Amino acid sequence: MKRHLISAADLSRDDAVLILDTAEELARLADRPIKKLPTLRGRTVVNLFFEDSTRTRISFEAAAKRLSADVINFSAKGSSVSKGESLKDTALTLEAMGADAVVIRHHASGAPHRLATSGWIKGAVVNAGDGTHEHPTQALLDAFTVRRHLRPEASGVGQDLAGRRITIVGDILHSRVARSNVHLLSTLGAEVTLVAPPTLVPFGVESWPCEVSYDLDTVVGKTDAVMMLRVQRERMNAAFFPTEREYARRYGLDGDRMSRMPEHAIVMHPGPMNRGMEITAEVADSDRCTAVEQVANGVSIRMAVLYLLLGGNESAVAAARTEESK
Ligand code: NCD
Repeated sequence: MKRHLISAADLSRDDAVLILDTAEELARLADRPIKKLPTLRGRTVVNLFFEDSTRTRISFEAAAKRLSADVINFSAKGSSVSKGESLKDTALTLEAMGADAVVIRHHASGAPHRLATSGWIKGAVVNAGDGTHEHPTQALLDAFTVRRHLRPEASGVGQDLAGRRITIVGDILHSRVARSNVHLLSTLGAEVTLVAPPTLVPFGVESWPCEVSYDLDTVVGKTDAVMMLRVQRERMNAAFFPTEREYARRYGLDGDRMSRMPEHAIVMHPGPMNRGMEITAEVADSDRCTAVEQVANGVSIRMAVLYLLLGGNESAVAAARTEESK
């Protein structure tokens, strides 16, 4: 694996399967009364959040703490960033505090790449979502969720998603989750189809490893998982569709559409959900919707990523046992 995790496109099939398998091993911890491993004792993880987040920030914090790392949470609101401090000066401050890993979310696409290649900090950089570019740990936790549901044999360890059909629906144009998922799921062998109104399909999508459709009804009957995306109003500077009602009617998932999915197929959502827009409350609350499970899986995936980037090269749980017996 590379030293940083900036883009899902940087992961080979073997890297991705290693992360999924390590997460699988670490997920077993969640069933133990004491969830903590001593693996990253003495290491410092900084969560550097320039953009709002609920799930991702809490999840990285829980992951680092379960591995016994020291965690520093930085959010731009209420910091000197509101006084105009640059990314460089913020990074130099973190470096002075001895960060072994920096998890960064930023409204500018490319900010994590800049941090990783600038030489301002020495630690590993993990992209927790940059602008409309990428969100690789979200794609990993999504792949983990799909693998658990669709390859239940021995939790799917060692396996990829060959032949699985995954449909990603909605605001693809502004979605870093969609970009990362297209790369990762195709690397893992899945067949990905994007469904969106033509105005929300990115320019240059022909070169992406996926199919594109404008009609959800023709796709739902032939899919193993449907991933619904939030309409990202905060990134929209124009009218991309006539009305919310029209959007929900053509591209939303309601109970009727869900009933036309194959029986084993699951409904995914990265959160936050706009109930009534891309997904109805009936679907969001149904037992086919994995949104809450995705959040739980996110902790295991982020533990695996931090463990592997901070130098773990043996089985994560075995390494912890050796530490515990010292
Ligand atoms: C996504 C994000 O921030 O990119 N959410 C998440 O990380 N769970 C998707 C979104 O904001 O709609």
